[in-house]
Amino acid sequence: MKKAIALFTLTAAIASGSHAGAVTLTIACGAVGQELELCKAGAARWAAKTGNEVKVFESPNLTNDRLALYQQQLAAKSSDIDVYQLDVVWPGLLAQHFIDLKGKVPAAEVNTHFKGIIDANTVDGKLVAMPWFTDAGLLYYRTDLLKKYGYAAAPKTWAELATMAKKIQDGEQKANKTFAGFVWQGKNYEGLTCDAMEWLVSFGGGTIVDSTGKITINNPNAAKALDTAASWVKTISPAGVTTYGEEEARGIFQSGNAAFMRNWPYAWSLGQSADSKVKGKIGVAPLPSGGARNAATLGGWQLGVSSYSKNQAAAIELVRYLAGPAEQKIRAIEGSYNPTITTLYKDADVLKANPFFGSLFSVFTSAVARPSGPTKSKYNQVSQAFSSAVSDVLSGKSKGQAAVAQLATNLARIKGAGW
Ligand code: GLC
Repeated sequence: MKKAIALFTLTAAIASGSHAGAVTLTIACGAVGQELELCKAGAARWAAKTGNEVKVFESPNLTNDRLALYQQQLAAKSSDIDVYQLDVVWPGLLAQHFIDLKGKVPAAEVNTHFKGIIDANTVDGKLVAMPWFTDAGLLYYRTDLLKKYGYAAAPKTWAELATMAKKIQDGEQKANKTFAGFVWQGKNYEGLTCDAMEWLVSFGGGTIVDSTGKITINNPNAAKALDTAASWVKTISPAGVTTYGEEEARGIFQSGNAAFMRNWPYAWSLGQSADSKVKGKIGVAPLPSGGARNAATLGGWQLGVSSYSKNQAAAIELVRYLAGPAEQKIRAIEGSYNPTITTLYKDADVLKANPFFGSLFSVFTSAVARPSGPTKSKYNQVSQAFSSAVSDVLSGKSKGQAAVAQLATNLARIKGAGW
């Protein structure tokens, strides 16, 4: 009897992979920049290849909103979504709802990806998701305007950036009142956690919580980093910057209304598109140093198979296909989504479309992880406490030193007996 069931399952699994229309899967993808378009196209390629059907579920832009929605689905053990696009900071939070891909995806295939990203997706030995694309914060700048105002290169420090942004802004505002020196992600959400971690690390202020789980935020360099960012608001950045996510900043930069922008790599491809006002005028550099180092926060997205999916075998095949080299190459060329497969950084077509994948390779390999590993299932609370504290400094409600001291107390409460 047992044997018969096993055989039946096997036959069904084979059939699902080879018979037209055998399975209908649903994948939840993001919609920032070209994400949705490229997800749909990739899913359609797999569907055409296998004869299965894939529906694409459009997720909200802000990573916090996506998380809330996914947590609802997963808590209800809903089988509606088979494959989820997961933020690199979520595996610790969501591991229990995803199948272990170890052994299901051949080790040789897993090993083609950056080891650090595979590690970030591994929770207590379980491979929660396969990396799809990686992210690191970058400084975008207007090459034409730097030249016009007599600057030979991108700023190396935040102080230099502030000086340059002010001079360019003052000059450009004579003809364009809305022109901004520097745009970034200042809204109180996960994106602000990313930007602010870059400021912290660049000033030598640590990563909020260190790799051993110790709360390190209460230090003078962290305070100085936050006060420095607050000094940009209403001087080189518009008051509205405290309401911007990635797409708001990109909209302003891409329409020609900012000299500098902090954003992820996806903004490159759109900035170079035919309808962009700044096509051919964009430079990309490492984010400036605050005295300690240049720092980029590690971001990126993975694909995981829900434990509640009724078509897990097919869902695993879809994930392997989308996270595989052919799809990652298309996404890199068409959308400047950074591959997680190391060899694609030597691919001539990928480098031609994205020269900075080569010139800034070390930015991607030295990107700093948010403390989602050490804080495990409490990461989201930690991040929200952090971004709220940063938000208060940006709006002038508190000063850096008081904010980091209060935050340390709040984080200790969240930590309780341990993370
Ligand atoms: C990008 C990153 C992601 C991060 C998010 C914040 O999508 O890839 O890791 O959490 O931005 O807005």
